[in-house]
Amino acid sequence: MAEGEWQPKILAIICNWCSYAGADLAGSARIQYPPDVRAIRVMCTGRVDPLFIMKAFADGADGVLVSGCHFGDCHYIAGNYKCAKRMFLMKSVLKDLGIEDNRLRMTFVSASEGAKWAKVIEDVVKTVKDLGPSPLNQLQQ
Ligand code: FES
Repeated sequence: MAEGEWQPKILAIICNWCSYAGADLAGSARIQYPPDVRAIRVMCTGRVDPLFIMKAFADGADGVLVSGCHFGDCHYIAGNYKCAKRMFLMKSVLKDLGIEDNRLRMTFVSASEGAKWAKVIEDVVKTVKDLGPSPLNQLQQ
């Protein structure tokens, strides 16, 4: 990272059973990935209230990643399906607010996919860096 280079603020809301374990595996395997993401662990992506996402953007996030178990693997049966539906709606709400919808991403990373976790983070960081600061952050300056 060059000095003075803009660093995005990205929030990852990740499920305890799959994506958190995948992120942990990436760490234990010493797989390198960008440090621009701050993670919050929830028990299931079904717990992710759309207000969490709105608050993240309102509080300065440039991007939000929600990551959970693959379909069929949710420990609470259908939490990830419910979350996927909400993410679809949230993208439309964000667009209406002038926030590019690809600032919000949902992915599915299992406990054994540490390398995939690193790739997801690289891709999310690149996408958000290419977009630049969130329009909400630009308004607040
Ligand atoms: S327990 Fe992981 S998404 Fe539901």
